[in-house]
Amino acid sequence: MRVLISLCILVSISAASVNGVTDPTDVSALKIMFSSLNSPSQLAGWNSNGDDPCGQSWQGVTCSGSAVTELKIPSLGLTGSMGYQLDGLKSLTNLDISGNSLGGNIPYQLPQNLQRLNLASNSFSGGIPYSISQMGSLKYLNLSHNQLQGQLGDMFGQLPNLNSLDFSFNTLAGDLPESFGSLTSLNSMYMENNQLTGSIDVLKDLPLQNLNVANNQFSGWVPEKLKSINPQIDGNQWSSGPAPPPPPGSPSSGTRSNRNHNSGNNNSPSDGGNGKKSSIGGGGVAGIVISILVVGAIVAFFLLKKRSKRQSSDVENSYDDRPFTAFASNEVKESKPVLPSFTVVPPKPIETPIPVVSLRPPPIDRKKSFDEDDFSNKPIVVKKVNRATIKATAYSVADLQMATTSFSPDNLIGDGTIGRVYRAQFGDGKVLAVKKVNASALRNLSSEDFMEVVSNVSQLHHSNIAELVGYCCEHGQYLLVYEFYRNGSLHDYLHLSDEYGNPLKWNTRVKVALGTARALEYLHEGCSSSVVHKNFKSANILLDSELDPHVSECGLASFISKADYEALEQNSSSGYGAPEVALSGQYTLQSDVYSFGVVMLELLTGRKPFDSSRPRSEQSLVRWVAPQLHDIDALTKMVDPALEGLYHAKSLSRFADVIALCVQPEPEFRPPMSEVVQALVRLVQQEN
Ligand SMILES: *[C@@H]1O[C@H](CO)[C@@H](O)[C@H](O)[C@H]1NC(C)=O
Repeated sequence: MRVLISLCILVSISAASVNGVTDPTDVSALKIMFSSLNSPSQLAGWNSNGDDPCGQSWQGVTCSGSAVTELKIPSLGLTGSMGYQLDGLKSLTNLDISGNSLGGNIPYQLPQNLQRLNLASNSFSGGIPYSISQMGSLKYLNLSHNQLQGQLGDMFGQLPNLNSLDFSFNTLAGDLPESFGSLTSLNSMYMENNQLTGSIDVLKDLPLQNLNVANNQFSGWVPEKLKSINPQIDGNQWSSGPAPPPPPGSPSSGTRSNRNHNSGNNNSPSDGGNGKKSSIGGGGVAGIVISILVVGAIVAFFLLKKRSKRQSSDVENSYDDRPFTAFASNEVKESKPVLPSFTVVPPKPIETPIPVVSLRPPPIDRKKSFDEDDFSNKPIVVKKVNRATIKATAYSVADLQMATTSFSPDNLIGDGTIGRVYRAQFGDGKVLAVKKVNASALRNLSSEDFMEVVSNVSQLHHSNIAELVGYCCEHGQYLLVYEFYRNGSLHDYLHLSDEYGNPLKWNTRVKVALGTARALEYLHEGCSSSVVHKNFKSANILLDSELDPHVSECGLASFISKADYEALEQNSSSGYGAPEVALSGQYTLQSDVYSFGVVMLELLTGRKPFDSSRPRSEQSLVRWVAPQLHDIDALTKMVDPALEGLYHAKSLSRFADVIALCVQPEPEFRPPMSEVVQALVRLVQQEN
């Protein structure tokens, strides 16, 4: 027996000294991490040749048996990235890399059984990886103080143990996802200093004790239930006036008072509800039932109207939907199940406030309707633009003059509807693009209007949108400063480069289509109020040194007067305008989709949308190509000869299928940009 035991000990010791006691998958994950961190000397014991983090007690590593259970390496001045194999750490419950200088995206491959994940105070950019949605044991998540951006995905539906969530001090945008409502253990939530929009209603039933949503762009009303925990809410765009009644048919919360429809209509959202329960007799009940039916009917009407127009279509429409959104913000997006739930509203009269007031929420401070002169994209107008919210640098005219050698023609790189664009080189060597806004574009606009546009545009952040970095509003000069993209516009690249230049390869064309589709998807569906581009064309797609596309002139539609637009459209040389725009002058999300389809046609054929040098039947690209998009033989004849046949026929015909959807004459049949993006993503995947 004794011999046997000592034999066992001997075997295990020799095994340890040869292979280490640490699980090889864990070893491999840590070694890849070590080299991704640029093999830092400050990590004592770590060693790219070592193979036993547990046995050799690598700094910050805690093990249980042969498995790594904790990895805590905060504030060590680490750089680089986390490595791409952390999902191999199957037993890891605590990962703390906070307070370092790690950059790049947070990898998708994360340990799936974490209880604590702390990546705070690094330089991570990009989005929040969806793999976090699979971490069912997660209790603590801290991603604060990074440069995370984009919208929060709907990825919080299965994190029932999450207790503490900190996303503060990033540049996250978009509305709070519905799945936040499923965080049934959430005690503390820190979202301050982001660019989040929409209402925070989805948080109202969470067991929160601490909530900070300060310095975002939230709007709507702070739910009564949350007011009792004294949330930090400053620096948002809360609606003033009384909150609207809850959606009919939804279980209204007991704390909601009937102050919604009392006579005083100037309650600030911050004064607490003086919760008085209405006690109503039989006649009242009947009245309420009738009111509910009436409201139901009106809501159903709005829904039907909305549906018949398919997707929330144009800006006009989304404004129409606004009052309705205030009632049923959640339901509005899912089309199918909504209607029945309203028609069978169970009469729950006592708790449901009587919506006797108009269906509209307190008047939105909006200038004019969409098709009037001001052409404002944003229905909600912030009157006094708070310059502190502008996330772009203020330049002086002198700065910009110096950088462009007094706007010398040598530096002219573009001439658009809104103004000329100059290449600007600054003292520190940085090169940017300066757009000098035409006086004519500003005819009706005050400097306050200009600053409002700057403020709105400075909040658009997307890797496929030309980034506004600065502005200048001085001495009657209005200038916008953008990132500079080395390869110029797609228009010039396709149509002006000489024959022996470097034609875009098929894969690059698909990449450009997908990138710009994502940009439009973001403008249409990712922003709190949809932004219609109105001037989407290949000249407004800029290519960087990697030939990745960046859409320009986003959010600048208000600089183009209606007359200019009419000139643009009547002037048949454009070729981008949807047929209904020529008829009605109405720009909508769907007219952008059409223009996008035309740009895809340009990518496919290498031709301009309108080319008077061609035979008459081929002058208008859409008219010439659209009828043949499903004919593969015809397609191969129309495809850009510069491709020299280097493309997959399958890919080409799928590309053509997407175009066919986008350039349909009936706006209501064109797909929303999110569907276009999905179709193009599938195309890319199949290609690979
Ligand atoms: C998240 O990390 C930051 C930076 O280290 C820290 O200030 C903050 O308190 C943390 N949040 C929570 C909820 O622990």
